Amino acid sequence: MSTVLVTGATDGLGRALATRLAGNGATVLAHARSEERGRETLGELLDGPGDVRLVVGDLASLQAVRALADQVPDRLDVLVNNAGIGFAGGREESEDGYELRFAVNYLAGFLLAALLRDRLVASAPARIVNVASAGQQAIDFDDVMLEDGYDGARAYRQSKLAQIMHSFDLAAELEGEGVTATALHPATFMATKMVTGAGITPASTVQEGLEATWRLVADPALERVSGGYFNGTSEARADAQAYDADARRRLRELSERLVGS
Ligand SMILES: NC(=O)c1ccc[n+]([C@@H]2O[C@H](COP(=O)([O-])OP(=O)(O)OC[C@H]3O[C@@H](n4cnc5c(N)ncnc54)[C@H](OP(=O)(O)O)[C@@H]3O)[C@@H](O)[C@H]2O)c1
Repeated sequence: MSTVLVTGATDGLGRALATRLAGNGATVLAHARSEERGRETLGELLDGPGDVRLVVGDLASLQAVRALADQVPDRLDVLVNNAGIGFAGGREESEDGYELRFAVNYLAGFLLAALLRDRLVASAPARIVNVASAGQQAIDFDDVMLEDGYDGARAYRQSKLAQIMHSFDLAAELEGEGVTATALHPATFMATKMVTGAGITPASTVQEGLEATWRLVADPALERVSGGYFNGTSEARADAQAYDADARRRLRELSERLVGS
């Protein structure tokens, strides 16, 4: 069975996915922001019968993302960029001085995919699954870091659209390499801390989001499906900017600059 890296495995959808993967015999690289947070939330899973290994790194630090990639073995079948922060609260910056939601929700996954690319290709058939959202907003390239009139919902939505744009680019880049890339909206307002913390009444269960995510991660029928954006289990249309090749190029070039590659 596969080796799967799940970022943000300490809570919500990521923890549910890690638990299901472990129960199905996968080697799970369960990611936590720190060793302490991982032990506190994943103790049962780490000590259980499955092959679950803790990998750590605060995604608000590009240096920590690089250190996280160093903990990943040569064999990697699936990368799930799931970790994220919601829209509650004011403007914050990452350790590198970037707008925090852009940095954690998108840029960390961008760098991780680049650092793990060769391992995924060597393990092909392999997959990259970006857990994005139906909440999307076009990126204003004149103010990507949202310094002017910050709005948390906008910060969240642009980071989620960036993930989808990245998935489309990855799918094209990895065509013929046996590595697929997809993005999805798992479910609307699942009962997780991201939703309840923003004062929103949950409208779906983590189980619903898990089913949608599981398909892209593990369903053999989707082994060759690449480049799509899924709303739950249905292929859907993302924000128009995702289909704008020039916008994707601008985002890619900016991201490469920001991660220093
Ligand atoms: N909930 C929804 O209805 C919904 C809808 C659409 C899309 N999504 C997406 O689904 C994904 C999972 O969300 P969720 O609802 O399961 O949220 P959640 O319960 O809040 O879990 C988020 C996970 O990300 C981790 N994380 C956040 N910041 C981090 C950082 N700086 N470094 C390392 N890890 C970090 C959290 O770690 P800690 O446990 O340490 O905080 C946690 O494991 C997100 O990408 C979200 O945007 C969710």
